[in-house]
This record gives sequence, C-alpha cells and structure tokens, in this order.
Amino acid sequence: MKSISNEKNLESKKILLRLDLNVPLEDGKISDTTRIDKILPTLNFLIQQKTKIIILSHVGRPKGKTVKELSLKPICEDLRKKLNKSIKLITENIYEIKNKDFFEKFDEEIFILENIRFYAEEEKNDSKFAKHLASFGDIYVNDAFSCSHRAHASIQQISKYLPSFSGLQLDLEVGALNKITAEITKPITCIIGGSKISTKIDIIKNLIPKLDNIVIVGGMANNFIEYFGNNIGKSIKEKNCNEIVEEILSLSKKKECKIIYPDDVLVAKDLNGLSKNKELNQVLPDEMILDIGPKTVNKIINIIDNSKTILWNGPAGYFENPNFANGSIKIAKKIIENKKLNKIFSVVGGGDTVSLLNNLKVVGNFNFVSTAGGAFLEYLEGKKLPGITALN
Ligand code: 3PG
Repeated sequence: MKSISNEKNLESKKILLRLDLNVPLEDGKISDTTRIDKILPTLNFLIQQKTKIIILSHVGRPKGKTVKELSLKPICEDLRKKLNKSIKLITENIYEIKNKDFFEKFDEEIFILENIRFYAEEEKNDSKFAKHLASFGDIYVNDAFSCSHRAHASIQQISKYLPSFSGLQLDLEVGALNKITAEITKPITCIIGGSKISTKIDIIKNLIPKLDNIVIVGGMANNFIEYFGNNIGKSIKEKNCNEIVEEILSLSKKKECKIIYPDDVLVAKDLNGLSKNKELNQVLPDEMILDIGPKTVNKIINIIDNSKTILWNGPAGYFENPNFANGSIKIAKKIIENKKLNKIFSVVGGGDTVSLLNNLKVVGNFNFVSTAGGAFLEYLEGKKLPGITALN
C-alpha cells in the first residue's frame, strides 16, 4: 500500500479523495463529528501540497435514490468552518459533469460530490460509473478505512483507473489494528452490538475461532432471544437468521468460545418511551427491546473482569434515548475502570460506539478507538478488505 503522505510533486494534481463522512445526523444536524475531525490531517496535508481536492463520500443508506435528509450539505458546512476554506457541494448529476468543469466552471479549490450512494451504481461496484468518477482526477486516495469492507465503485473499482494511495487516517487505523492483532493477549472478549445486524451476524461465525467470549447485545441479540423461543414484539431483527444462529452456537461449542446473549431486557412501546425491565419471556407483542437489563449488565461486567483484551463494536441499546443508555454506559465504565488498573487492553470501533463515548466524554480512555465498525470486525476476522486490497 502506497501512502499519499510519502508522495512528492503533488502540486496542482486533482485528488479524488474517498472519505467516510457517514456521521450521525439528527434533523439535519451532525450529532457527532468524530469522523470529520479524524480526516482533517489528510485534508490539511493535501492543502499544504497545493493539490485540488474532490471529495467522495456517502451518508446513510439511500439505496440508489436521492434522499434529501441524507445530503452532505451539513457536512460540507462543518468542513468549511473547520478548514476555513470555501468548499463547493456539487449537486449536479455526476454524469453531466466533466473533468474540466471542476476548476473552470466551478472556482473553488475543494469540492464535495453529493452523497455517492444516491447512485445505485456505487453499491453495484459499477465499472462505467467508477471510470467516470476517475475521469475527474489524476490521483485516487482512499482515506475511508471504515468503508473499505465494501466492494463499491468509489472504494474498489475506481482504483483500477487511477494511481491509488492510502490516506493518513487509513494508514493510522491499519497500522494500529495490525499491531493490536499481532500483540493480542487472551482471554479475548468481543462485545458486538448496534443495529446493523446484517453486516455483523456472518462475521460472528468467523470470529469464533479467534476469541474466548462473544457478547451479543443491541439489535442482533434479538435474533438470539427469538431463536430460543421468546417473543420479541416489535424489536428490530434480521429475517431468516435461525440457520446462522444455529451454526454460531454449534461452532462456539466446538471451539470453546462462549456466546453470551441477554438474560433480561429493557423495553418500551416506542423509541421515545420510558423503560421497563422484563424477563425474556415477558415481552409483549406491542413492545420493543431497546436495551439490556440489569442481570445481563452484571453478567457482562463479570466477563470483562475475566478478560485481558476487550474489543467492542456497537452500543448495547438505543442510547439516543437516555432511558436505554444504561447497558452501554455500564459496559464503558467497567472497561475504563479495568483499563486504568492495567488489567485489560481495550479497543473500540464504530460510528455509533464512538458517538456514545463522545457523549460520555470518555473517548480518550481506551487503548485504541477506530472510526470503523463493520470494517473493524472484518479486519479482526482476518478477511481481506476490498478497499485495502485495491490499494495493494
Ligand atoms: C459505517 O458506518 O460503518 C460505514 O460508513 C459503512 O456504512 P455501511 O454499513 O452503510 O456500508
């Protein structure tokens, strides 16, 4: 992998820079800017080198349609303030733009193309789309480690058409994760939560041989709770998962990796509701599971106490409503306490998890914090990430 930070003579070069600006947005406002702040060194480096910058990114999952709420506009404004530069958001149809338009028709030095996932071709890894994107620049830089597990046009395919380099943040994340995986100490516990069930459920199976404990919380735990014959009401879940849950449970026995899922839960009738503690067999059809209960918290604390390494991706509950933040807060506090006593090595990853830790103002209390969620887990799995392979 060649890093852009080692390149000379970049002056006036048009850099197509893939970033992960997929930050949480609430009513058009950014609720956590970590992913933006982390890529500022790369932008500053490219500015110092007097390059012309064209930023590519996605936000959310618009599935190939233009979704107003998922515009990069608020992110563009945040970047403008932070860099103190004029930055133009290009909302024109990408197919109607040509290379020379960037610095003739439009006069700024930094551009952001509107949400790249407004085009279905992005997720299809479409080569014509990638070639057209590539025609805008001279050099491609991937500084989106957290998207590098996606074989998408602006991450993988595009590198076929341009000299391609890694960005500073990607270098940092890959370097740190390489070091961590090489020096990891057992017993290793991985806590997996959050709401992106489909991204993560398959990964669990592949992580089993490498880990001592896998703690399943958040949305994915609902699939396990239901598998054991409990009603999960209106809770989020992934369809047709019984087979994979079965495989996970049977493989975990063979490989002596404990799978821990909730013993009790906190529920409400909707996301804004008050919390009620319930046993697994007490959830009503009109209720949704939004956090782990106190019995489960104690069980997880005990596991953390008996671990030397903790890897954590995905909150335990819907922490955006403080009534369902308890599980995640207790997990965070316990990890921090044991880390301070030098009893564990702790690594956390993922947009929501980092946002949670920022809200709690404890983000500096872990050994390493990755901006990546799915990519972080797949990297731990030992999988070759398409975005990284493309740079090699
Ligand atoms: C993330 O938030 O992990 C990345 O931006 C990738 O998003 P995705 O899971 O929607 O591909």
